[in-house]
Amino acid sequence: MIQIKNIPVEKTYTVRLNVLRPHQSISDCQYDGDTDELTKHFGAYLDNKLIGIVSIYKSKIKHIDDKNCWQIRAMAIIKNIRKKGYASSLLKVAETYALKNGANYIWCNARISAIGFYEKHNYKLYGDEFNVKDIGPHYIMIKDCFVD
Ligand SMILES: CC(C)(COP(=O)(O)OP(=O)(O)OC[C@H]1O[C@@H](n2cnc3c(N)ncnc32)[C@H](O)[C@@H]1OP(=O)(O)O)[C@@H](O)C(=O)NCCC(=O)NCCS
Repeated sequence: MIQIKNIPVEKTYTVRLNVLRPHQSISDCQYDGDTDELTKHFGAYLDNKLIGIVSIYKSKIKHIDDKNCWQIRAMAIIKNIRKKGYASSLLKVAETYALKNGANYIWCNARISAIGFYEKHNYKLYGDEFNVKDIGPHYIMIKDCFVD
C-alpha cells in the first residue's frame, strides 16, 4: 500500500539525482524556492521505501496574468514501478495542497517524455519547445484549475 508523506527537501535529493539528473550532482538537485515558506515536498513510500517524489511551489509564470499560480517540479518515480498510478497519487496530493492555498493555475516544465502523463491530468501544452541544459527538450504545460 502506497503512503504519501510531506517530506523535507533533503529527502528528495537521491530520487532527484537518480531519476532526474543522473549525470549531475546533488548540488544540481537543489532548486530555487525549495525552502520557501509555501513550498512542499511529497514522497511516496512503498514498504517504507521512498519510491517517488514531487515538489510544489507558489510561482508566477510570465505567460499568465494571475498571482495564484503554482509550479509542479521534480515529479519522479523510480524505474520498474511506473505505470501503477503512483505518480498520479503524488500529483493529486500536491495539487490538492495548491488548491487549498488558492491556486488558479498549476504549471510545469514538462520533459517531452512526460507530456502524456501531464495530459492525462488535464495539463495543456503552452508555447514552443525549449531546451533545458544537460536535460533536453521541454514544454510548458498549464492546468486551469477551473476547467475539468
Ligand atoms: C512521468 C512519470 C513521473 C509517470 O509516473 P507513473 O507512476 O508511471 O505515472 P502513473 O502510473 O500515475 O500514470 C498515470 C497515467 O499516465 C500515463 N502515463 C504515465 N507516464 C506516461 C508517459 N510518459 N507518456 C504517456 N502516458 C503516461 C499512464 O499510462 C497512466 O494512464 P492511465 O490512467 O490511462 O492508466 C514517470 O514516468 C517518471 O518518473 N519518469 C521519469 C522522470 C520524469 O520524466 N519526470 C517528469 C519530469 S517533467
